[in-house]
Amino acid sequence: MTKNTVLTFRKKKKEGKKLTMLTAYDYTMTKLVNACNVDAGLVGDSLGNVILGYEDTISVTMDDMVHHCAAVARAADKAMVVADMPFMSYQISVEETLRNAGRLMKEGRSNAVKLEGGGRVCPQIKAMVEAGIPVMAHLGLTPQSINALGGYKVVGRTKEKAAELLEEAYAVQEAGAFSLVLECVPDKLAALVTEKLDIPVIGIGSGSGCDGQVLVTQDMLGMNLDFSPRFVKVFAPVGETVKKAIADYVQAVENGTFPAEEHGFSIEDDVIHDLY
Ligand code: KIV
Repeated sequence: MTKNTVLTFRKKKKEGKKLTMLTAYDYTMTKLVNACNVDAGLVGDSLGNVILGYEDTISVTMDDMVHHCAAVARAADKAMVVADMPFMSYQISVEETLRNAGRLMKEGRSNAVKLEGGGRVCPQIKAMVEAGIPVMAHLGLTPQSINALGGYKVVGRTKEKAAELLEEAYAVQEAGAFSLVLECVPDKLAALVTEKLDIPVIGIGSGSGCDGQVLVTQDMLGMNLDFSPRFVKVFAPVGETVKKAIADYVQAVENGTFPAEEHGFSIEDDVIHDLY
């Protein structure tokens, strides 16, 4: 099985073919994602909301990311594994950024890392790229800055903010990022950024004009019972199917129809008889 790499991303942009990415946090789900030829599995720090039950991504630690990334990497023999750098793992210094990205590559076995921000994280992007670590950038709505942004909002609607976003996109490309995620950016602005940049742009809540799309897997499977963002399409109501299966299991155990004979293991009668 040939593993997808940064070259896959480059080639698809050049050929005008769409890239696909889905979040992955564990071995079982990654096996399914990988089996469906998704180009990349993103070990997103949305792990905090989706798997760990936090209200945001702020509390996610390097240890959380490394632990889940390693499980994902064991299942992804084709999909490229991109790991999010959690809040405060890259803001302090370039040195600390390299140490933390190194952990995601060495212990987590990721193939690339992702971090949020534009010009202010360009020194970190440059240093990682020089160290041989592919970097995916992330602009638009950047959930790690939720406290500074004051909420989850569309980014780039005014002339000033749109120009700023385009400038930040050029900056991360110039710093060496191999790809860029745009989250909650108006469709036409995302399409313009995609057209202007040489690197592939992956959108989430940013319209169909991007080079590819990413979604949180549990969202597109309707498994998030708390909340579903407007930009999510539920491709199959798996959450409802899971709920029905679990309710059926409870009922079957309670009424004695599970386990049936075929679910058990037999023993000669005389062995049992002698024990009574
Ligand atoms: O953490 C995450 O899942 C992400 C995607 C929403 C792009 O960063």
